[in-house]
Parts: sequence; structure tokens; C-alpha cells
Amino acid sequence: MTDPVPDPVRAWRRLADGPAPTVLLDGFHALKHAVRFGAEVPVAVTADRGAALALAEELAPDVRDTLDALLTEVSGDTYAALVPRPHPTAVAALALRPSREANLRALEHTPRGAPVVVLDQPRNLGNAGAVIRLAAGFGATGVVTTGTLDPWHPTVVRGGAGLHFATAVERLAVDELPPGPLFALDPEGEDIRGLKLPDDAVLAFGSERSGLSAELRERTDHLVALPMRPQVSSYNLATSVAMTLYHWSATGGAL
Ligand SMILES: C[S@@+](CC[C@H](N)C(=O)[O-])C[C@H]1O[C@@H](n2cnc3c(N)ncnc32)[C@H](O)[C@@H]1O
Repeated sequence: MTDPVPDPVRAWRRLADGPAPTVLLDGFHALKHAVRFGAEVPVAVTADRGAALALAEELAPDVRDTLDALLTEVSGDTYAALVPRPHPTAVAALALRPSREANLRALEHTPRGAPVVVLDQPRNLGNAGAVIRLAAGFGATGVVTTGTLDPWHPTVVRGGAGLHFATAVERLAVDELPPGPLFALDPEGEDIRGLKLPDDAVLAFGSERSGLSAELRERTDHLVALPMRPQVSSYNLATSVAMTLYHWSATGGAL
């Protein structure tokens, strides 16, 4: 006779194989952020419940009781079988992905109190995750990607530390971008230090390899440059987003 499959594992498999799109929350911090920002988390497991709750007490007392109710302990082998790569905190959960309709409503809502970040045909999953984390930190309205990269890819979610739930994340075509003046970042633009970025700005950044696409340039209202010495070609995509959001906040943007 084989061992019975533990209940949380059955629930995990049913969800993962079911029709509703789910998101793997990999590790304690991803689960903590997702819960804080209102994600629906139907199943959460850990290989060490005591350690996970001790982390919650130390780092996230605001969600400790929610995590206590959510987390089920499973064996180390069971935990390892559910995730592609075990996380040092031995915590994993499945959250329901917010609907595209809800994200589009958030992105299109006006008046807008904080910019939308657009990554135009990004290639690097780690950059996309880092940008979502930045957008969440600065309270941006959302992050939109154009092109083929899926901003909900598990590697992007891992890089975003569960903060996809703190902002609206969607993939759209250039002609579907949310309303608002489009400021596109490019070393050939006008120096950002002389500008105030409005709260309803759509801030667009080009791909790591080839910069802004022709289609996006065509829709651009203002081309904006980050200060840089002449011999340097460009900054990394995520650091460019960081500097631009910082500039928006330092010149009176919300937070
Ligand atoms: C790694 S860069 C792209 C480099 C690419 N080889 C090119 O031809 O533009 C990625 C994006 O970061 C932004 N970026 C990088 N450095 C910038 C700068 N000095 N001023 C404004 N935007 C910059 C731009 O949006 C750029 O498209």
C-alpha cells in the first residue's frame, strides 16, 4: 500500500492543474508580500512551520496570524517535490492570479495618482522582476510589458518578491497602453533634471538590447534622458526605472 497523499498536496495539485491561473509564491518573503497586498492564497506549505512563524514574528508581525492560519507543515521531500528549486526558507504557496480585467481597470482609471511603468519588449526576466519590485516600492499604478516576455513568468515573480500583488501587472500592445502623457527614456532625450514628471505619466523604457521600438517612439510625447558621462552608452534597464521613479518622487510625486 502506498502512503496517502497529504491534504495540502492534493489541494496544491488540484489548483496547479485547474483552470484558474495560479502564481507560485516561492519563499517566505514572497508569501508575506502577497498576503500583505491582498492576494488570494488558497494553499501554503512549509517544511518547518516553527521556523516560518518565527520569521513572521520577527519580520512580519502584521501578517503573522494570517500565516499561522495558512501554513501547513509537510515533509522536506514533499515540499521539495512541489517547487522547481527549494528556497532557503522552505516556504511555498499558490496564489490566484488577479484577473486581466481588474488590472486593466486599475491601469486605465483616471485621474491617476502615480505613473504607469512600461517596459517595451524587455528580454531579461530578472530585470522585469526588479522593476515590479521598484514599482511596488514607489507605489506606481502598474507595470506594463509589450512584446513576448510574460511578466507573470515564475522567474519574474521570484525576482519581484511577491510584489506583483502590490501593483497592476499586465502585458499589452503599444496601441493598448493606458492613457496619459508618454515620457520615453532614452539617452538622446531632454535632461530629466529639468523636468517634473506628472502623476499621470506613462514612463516607457526600451529593451536591453535595442532600446525603444519604432512603434513606441511614434507614440512618445517627451523623450527624456538620465544624466550620464559621454563615454558611457547606457544604464541597465532596472536601474533606469529606479532613477526615474526616484526623480518623480523627489520632485513631489506621491509616497
Ligand atoms: C540597457 S538600455 C538599452 C540600450 C540599448 N543598446 C539602446 O540602444 O538603447 C535599456 C533602456 O534603459 C533606458 N536607459 C538606459 N540608459 C539611459 C539614459 N542614460 N537615459 C535615459 N534612458 C536610459 C532606456 O529606456 C533604454 O532603452
